[in-house]
Amino acid sequence: MAAQGCARCWLSLPALLLLLAAGSAGSAHARWGGQGTSPHLQSIFLGRCAEYSTLLGPQLRDKNCTAIWEAFRAVLDKEPCAVLPSDYDPFISLSRHSIPQDKSLFWENNQFLVTSYAENARRFMPLQDVLYGRAADLLSWCRQENASELDYQSCPTSDDCENNAVDSFWKRASIQYSKDSSGVIHVMLNGSVPTGAYPVKGFFADFEVPYFQKDKITRIEIWVMHEIGGPNVESCGEGSVKILEERLKEMGFQYSCINDYLPVKLLKCVDHSTHADCALNS
Ligand SMILES: *[C@@H]1O[C@H](CO)[C@@H](O)[C@H](O)[C@H]1NC(C)=O
Ligand SMILES: *[C@@H]1O[C@H](CO)[C@@H](O)[C@H](O)[C@H]1NC(C)=O
Ligand SMILES: *[C@@H]1O[C@H](CO)[C@@H](O)[C@H](O)[C@H]1NC(C)=O
Repeated sequence: MAAQGCARCWLSLPALLLLLAAGSAGSAHARWGGQGTSPHLQSIFLGRCAEYSTLLGPQLRDKNCTAIWEAFRAVLDKEPCAVLPSDYDPFISLSRHSIPQDKSLFWENNQFLVTSYAENARRFMPLQDVLYGRAADLLSWCRQENASELDYQSCPTSDDCENNAVDSFWKRASIQYSKDSSGVIHVMLNGSVPTGAYPVKGFFADFEVPYFQKDKITRIEIWVMHEIGGPNVESCGEGSVKILEERLKEMGFQYSCINDYLPVKLLKCVDHSTHADCALNS
């Protein structure tokens, strides 16, 4: 469940040209490969926390967003490549809350579809609709190397170093989300990804599946969604989806797999209403 935005953010062509022009003009190039700390990080974080705890959950009213921010911010006292998932423990223990039974929605390569289908936690509660995931969704953050300020120019990605602040955050958050999930577990995969619908190394495979709580989970339902008009690279029972199904079976879970789960397909069809694959037969 890689919910962090920046690995998936695409630069627009004009922005790319600007960057190239700046580079060739000889300005210092960025230390790291990832996007720098998001501008207004603290305001966005605090605003999302306040909105979430006030509007979304009456049971969350006692959450102290200032204390939650401070626990999060403390991690930024560490060197940018020396942040461990466990460094977020104090942050998680202040911000965590229960996830309604049957409402967990895990995913890979479907971030924006999951966000819109979840409907702000009203329909499902994926990680980005849990307080700790919401506060950081799509943001980037890191401290400068050998200096106490935040780095707004660039931040390390997993290619720069494993223990970077953002990846360690999502690892810790994913583990918590998985441990707190119960009832029917839903997993949305993207069957149009050229390298396969289930990344065998990824947040879901490495930081969520291993932390499923067997005694709280009744069954697991996999939805393999394809882009409207294809390509259909993998479907249930094929390739990497089969690897996942076998893994879950070995772990002793009851599971089912559905291709192009209709409610989600109908949502995708909102953007392709004239496509033949979206025709409704009466
Ligand atoms: C919230 O946390 C801050 C920082 O730890 C603390 O100063 C403040 O008193 C707390 N507010 C409440 C209402 O507990
Ligand atoms: C699914 O994967 C394809 C191929 O990588 C991509 O173009 C598409 O945007 C993805 N769909 C969603 C909903 O993210
Ligand atoms: C930070 O300090 C270390 C150890 O002194 C050094 O190897 C590294 O080059 C420094 N990095 C920067 C960006 O100054």
